[in-house]
Amino acid sequence: MPSNGLATIGLLAMILNTAPAATTAQRLLLSSTVIAVSAAMIAMLAFHLWTVPGWRKRARYVASAEGMIDLASACALPFGWLIVPDPQDAQLFALVWALRYIRHASGLALFWRVMHRSRTALLSILSLFIAIFFVASSLAYIFERHAQPDAFGSIPRAMWWAIVTMTTTGYGDMLPVTIWGRLLAGWVMVGGVVMFALQAGIIATAFAAELQRRHFLHIWDLVTRVPLFQKLGAATIADIVRRLEMRDVGKGAIIVRKGEPGDTMYFVVSGEAAVQLDPAPIVLNPGSFFGEMALLFGAPRSATVVATKPSVLLVLDVADLRELAARRPELVDLIEAEARRRRDANAASQPPSTPSERTLRALAAAQVPD
Ligand code: CMP
Repeated sequence: MPSNGLATIGLLAMILNTAPAATTAQRLLLSSTVIAVSAAMIAMLAFHLWTVPGWRKRARYVASAEGMIDLASACALPFGWLIVPDPQDAQLFALVWALRYIRHASGLALFWRVMHRSRTALLSILSLFIAIFFVASSLAYIFERHAQPDAFGSIPRAMWWAIVTMTTTGYGDMLPVTIWGRLLAGWVMVGGVVMFALQAGIIATAFAAELQRRHFLHIWDLVTRVPLFQKLGAATIADIVRRLEMRDVGKGAIIVRKGEPGDTMYFVVSGEAAVQLDPAPIVLNPGSFFGEMALLFGAPRSATVVATKPSVLLVLDVADLRELAARRPELVDLIEAEARRRRDANAASQPPSTPSERTLRALAAAQVPD
């Protein structure tokens, strides 16, 4: 993204400008770069505001997270110059440009949602962390204050040791020397590791649950586009959604191959597929399904099916089809009726192989209804 590139250039220039080794000419170049990037940010904001039609939409943009980041990026340097007397130090306000990296990140929205959903569990861990922190620093003060009055002479001093030990950072600048102090340190270290492991577990589980929820909603959306499922109630759709998987196929992809065994059937959500039959292929549009014959009749695939456009398919496997048949027989009856119709149509379009078959077909054709 160009705006991210611009922010990177500006940030690098600002960071390099703090190096003491830079010459005057280099500083001038770096400062000019930071100023140029700031000017570009202001111009980009002005252009965006100008192109957005109507004041209401403009206000909505400025109130959005994206708009606020754009506004903060544009104002960062002018604001710095206004409140910091040293122009070199004012450039440090360019740090705000780092926010541009998260401006478009959809992953960030996911992150906030995950944090929000797991807030209760995370807050419990945090409370435990704070409780251990207070107890550990008080006990360290009690055990170590006579042996090391400089380092552990007060609880606030011991707090630094407690936080460094609980986070298992261990700078080594403060060490307990008494036996009780060391025992305490061991417990605090183990406690710290356990708490971080718990937090990581909670966040990872919440991420997995959120991704699963999004996947469920996405499949739900696809399922409701298939006419066969449209008349079903929410509970049945939810049941089906859990059983379906989405598959994206490119143009020309062979989805099923004639003669191969089959254990999945497909619903076309978007795009197009063609059943390769003689004399002409049969085109399957969104809403249709295929691959059901091998599942229902226990036979190999009756034809090759190719995606003739980039397509989105929903895949149902044989075990789930059987379960669906037990729960929603009317749904599978519809699929079965279509499978029989297709099988009969295919059989009728085959050239007769034996003389008796030829005679039977001629007789059938000769029977004209009243
Ligand atoms: P299956 O035999 O499992 O694999 C090939 C699929 O092509 C088949 O299931 C049907 O879904 C589909 N198919 C076969 N014949 C026809 C037809 N006449 N009309 C539409 N689809 C067909």
